[in-house]
Amino acid sequence: MNSSQIIKRSPSNIAIVKYWGKHDNQLPNNPSISFTLSNCYTETKLGYEINDIDKDNIHLDFYFEGKENEKFKTKIEKYLHDNEEYFSFLKGLKLRIESTNSFPHSSGIASSASSMSALVLCLLGIKYKDAEINLQEASFLSRLASGSASRSIFPTMSLWGETPSLPNSSDEYAVSIADLVDPVFKSYHDSILIVSSEEKSVSSRVGHSLMNSHPQAQERYATARKNTEDLLKILQSGDLEGFINIAEAEANQLHDLMATSTPSYTLKKPNTIKIIEKIVQFRKDTSLPICYTLDAGPNVHLLYPDFCAQDVKSFINDELKNHCFENKWIEDKVSI
Ligand code: PMV
Repeated sequence: MNSSQIIKRSPSNIAIVKYWGKHDNQLPNNPSISFTLSNCYTETKLGYEINDIDKDNIHLDFYFEGKENEKFKTKIEKYLHDNEEYFSFLKGLKLRIESTNSFPHSSGIASSASSMSALVLCLLGIKYKDAEINLQEASFLSRLASGSASRSIFPTMSLWGETPSLPNSSDEYAVSIADLVDPVFKSYHDSILIVSSEEKSVSSRVGHSLMNSHPQAQERYATARKNTEDLLKILQSGDLEGFINIAEAEANQLHDLMATSTPSYTLKKPNTIKIIEKIVQFRKDTSLPICYTLDAGPNVHLLYPDFCAQDVKSFINDELKNHCFENKWIEDKVSI
């Protein structure tokens, strides 16, 4: 039997305006904007062959970091089943999926964005064969697997969710905003300061659902819509101070929403706060335009343009590293 193989890489992304709260089939309650990263990625190998015995179903085996993984396999099977209308080309195939992450398994970096987008790109490789994959379709299908994965399809910066000033924006898929942004934002670094490597106590899935009964939900969605429109202008004009204000306010609002949901919870750790305080102090002392953001977890993403890189490297070594789990941080950059 002939078998074929497709290999795809897809990066992680870090949201500046956050997606937090959804409805229906993975539709966002507000638009979001993110940087697409370079060094944190998933590489997925998809082997496939015709299944002569069962022509009506999809059979799959899933290996993560070289080991068979039943939990991921079940998740992918459910995804393919729930969205079978888009995957008729997989019927009657046997799939062998092998996935690895470039970042350490226990680093606490969100992997659903990179892993689900890499998987979708592989699956669409079967449909498109040697032709170019339709990236809008890839983003749409990635969104159905994990909302934030829709944004990983495009390099540099993406926007997902309808917003008035971008007529091609959509709740169904992300769009690239790389062509709009000032070159300074294409030079951005993201130094990911690993505070904890433990699995999150509350998953993003639960976090999104707590927004359905959150008393501040409507205010939050209105703020995020305004931040999206403001950030688009800031990205175009290269306004670094405006960028800092929105990035940090969004990170804090996300974690405030967690603290004020019912039940409430907190993902920040004491070292998260210590690192944040030092970043703010360093900015005051040096006037360098560095800032932080947080994902749904305790790790701090330190964001800065390339012209700050030398100063920030010493700052991390001298002042931040000792607050990191096993002195670990990951150097990443916006992908171009
Ligand atoms: O894509 P999900 O369902 O894992 O949600 C991601 C939510 C945040 O990472 C907190 C924010 C975002 O927009 O990426």
